Amino acid sequence: MEYTVKPTHRVLLGITGGIAAYKSAELTRLLIKSGREVTVAMTAAAREFVGSATFQALSGHPVYSDLWDARPANGMAHIELTRSNDVMLIAPASADFLARLVHGRSDDLLSTTVLARTIPLIVAPAMNLQMWQNPATQRNVATLKADGVHVIGPGTGDQACGEIGDGRMLEPAEILAALDAWAQPKVLTGTRVLITAGPTQEAIDPVRVITNHSSGKMGYALAQACADAGAQVTLVSGPTHLPTPFAVNRVNVTSAAQMLAAVEAEVDEADIFIAVAAVADYRPTTHAEQKIKKTDAGLTVNLEPTVDILAKIAKYQRKGRGKSGPPFCVGFAAESEKVEQYGAEKRARKGIPLLIANHAQSAFGADENRVTLIDERGAEGATRLPRMGKLALARVLVHEIGKRQATVGYVA
Ligand SMILES: Cc1cc2nc3c(=O)[nH]c(=O)nc-3n(C[C@H](O)[C@H](O)[C@H](O)COP(=O)(O)O)c2cc1C
Repeated sequence: MEYTVKPTHRVLLGITGGIAAYKSAELTRLLIKSGREVTVAMTAAAREFVGSATFQALSGHPVYSDLWDARPANGMAHIELTRSNDVMLIAPASADFLARLVHGRSDDLLSTTVLARTIPLIVAPAMNLQMWQNPATQRNVATLKADGVHVIGPGTGDQACGEIGDGRMLEPAEILAALDAWAQPKVLTGTRVLITAGPTQEAIDPVRVITNHSSGKMGYALAQACADAGAQVTLVSGPTHLPTPFAVNRVNVTSAAQMLAAVEAEVDEADIFIAVAAVADYRPTTHAEQKIKKTDAGLTVNLEPTVDILAKIAKYQRKGRGKSGPPFCVGFAAESEKVEQYGAEKRARKGIPLLIANHAQSAFGADENRVTLIDERGAEGATRLPRMGKLALARVLVHEIGKRQATVGYVA
């Protein structure tokens, strides 16, 4: 099956005169590592900060700076560069360069290439806090956005000038992630997605808990993939060490009961509910107020079942605007054997339209995963996906969920 994304294979990386230009070397390296081809064009000011030899060596292509460069056969580097690339990424984009773009200036190679371009433009501004906050810059950025330029960042934090605040260029890895996100088909635009992720912790006493090895990586990857596909995402997360995915609203919980309460608080507005969290099936019947003292005698902890969040939401009647019945529910199941048979049984038992069966040995904590999709066609109609990185897999799952949610609707 083909999952087409906007091609961003050939990147024209524009570098302008900001102190963050030194980070563009790392960005070039990351872009190439991601399988892309990179051609670099620099302004004269950029060359005051970093040498072109670095970029020629990293990209494997000549670097362009001069409008009168005689190397292209037609003598028009500004035309050649946009026609032979898929996307133009300017990082760092100086305040001055943004201002020139707003006015359609074409007084050097990079600005002329922008004006003559036939490909999308992404800019990563980088400047001092006051330069960024200046109304002139803010007006310019608003104009560029209205003109269809995709602006990523800036980030916030320590600046080269010693000040702290907005204006620093996104880190190279964040720029790469933003490029990937931008390129995703927006199959979930206008959709609200509620996702659970991570483990839960069920307290025995103030210092001891019952938990599991879930890292949260699959749920977080799905949250990011849903947001990249245009959805409004709320992520209800058990304890993890993962950063919140960009543009995702995260609600932190600890126990299964808290996770249920957080889900119930959000579900009326949700179109899709994806239950990835490894929720504890049992919790201690009592929670000791003080730490239980260690003795030579054994300790018996009595357990009681927790509420099955997915099964409950699958029967939920939403009271959100224009919504009724349950959201489109997707469950995850970790099975170590008979994955399709057990997965199909679990899907029917929970009363959900789609179940994603993990191969348990490969799921927990790993960066890759291998899953099987089971829908109303049962084990016979199961779709086996190859092993892949969790974010790549999440993007495929988003495509499958979006397709089913839009065309099949709710199938119990
Ligand atoms: C040491 C130094 C650091 C600078 N850092 C930045 C910066 O981070 N962001 C920015 O917008 N301008 C910065 N400038 C100003 C730009 O280099 C200047 O506006 C230049 O005209 C930009 O040219 P360009 O947009 O053609 O590359 C800096 C200037 C100097 C001297």
